[in-house]
Amino acid sequence: MTLGSNNANSRRLSPQAIREGLKTRWLGQRAIYCFDVVESTNTEASSLARQGAAEGTIVFAEAQSTGRGRLGRSWISPRGTGLYLSVILRPQSPREWGPRLTLTAGVAVASAIHEEAGIRPGLKWPNDIMITNRKVGGILTEASFEGKRIGLAIVGVGINVNTDREDFPMPIRNLATSLRLSMGKAISRVALLQGSLHQLEQWYELFCKGSFGTILQAWRQYETILGSLVEVQLPESTLLGVAEDLDSDGTLLVRDERGRLHRIIAGDVVRCRIRATEGLQA
Ligand code: BTN
Repeated sequence: MTLGSNNANSRRLSPQAIREGLKTRWLGQRAIYCFDVVESTNTEASSLARQGAAEGTIVFAEAQSTGRGRLGRSWISPRGTGLYLSVILRPQSPREWGPRLTLTAGVAVASAIHEEAGIRPGLKWPNDIMITNRKVGGILTEASFEGKRIGLAIVGVGINVNTDREDFPMPIRNLATSLRLSMGKAISRVALLQGSLHQLEQWYELFCKGSFGTILQAWRQYETILGSLVEVQLPESTLLGVAEDLDSDGTLLVRDERGRLHRIIAGDVVRCRIRATEGLQA
């Protein structure tokens, strides 16, 4: 993989192209920054936000040299093939709502992929967007707090749109996919970006109103792990159990083999390949 990898669909996106046909009322209507290469759009967005950039500002890049994922992972961001964007939000909502934002953005992006690309992705708690068990996108939310409120949230979205198999480094080649690889045809990045912003605006407004129950309902329509045996990597240990449901605040509920229910606030979840009943009878 190189940052300069060439692709037939790599026409550079501009603020004008993104705005043309953008159906949002405010998201992306104030400022859109399009970069060629940045280290991370989340870093750029965070620095623009500290300089006073308004809610709804969009930062997009054709490539990222050190794109970030959750849990310190990197996000492979070859030039012109994917969507790498960050959105500046200033929700002023209670700080404990932070994790809900990632789930909200996941619903928005999954809905946009479904609508614009015509393929139904799955959501894997908390932030993975999947197609047939491979990762096609992810959300990275970075929040800062003002007292008990979320003063600023940078919601970073990465989607492998027209990425080629060779663009993924060997260690993740069998774990990642792109929309083009899954569908056998190229997908318009600009249409998918506009669709994602439109969806995000609507779902974010529900988030701000406190209608998280509606968001969770939509999340469950796309989810891929509930009812499955999962292994959860926690900071100090590993938990094996059945992913039962999401709690009303978006935490994952996992029941272990002794019947104890664990509330998972953060962790890496891997679905085990055996069925839940087999795994827990051992
Ligand atoms: C994950 O799956 O762990 C989250 C991936 C998020 C990647 C996006 S790409 C745009 C934004 N900038 C980053 O550095 N990361 C996010």
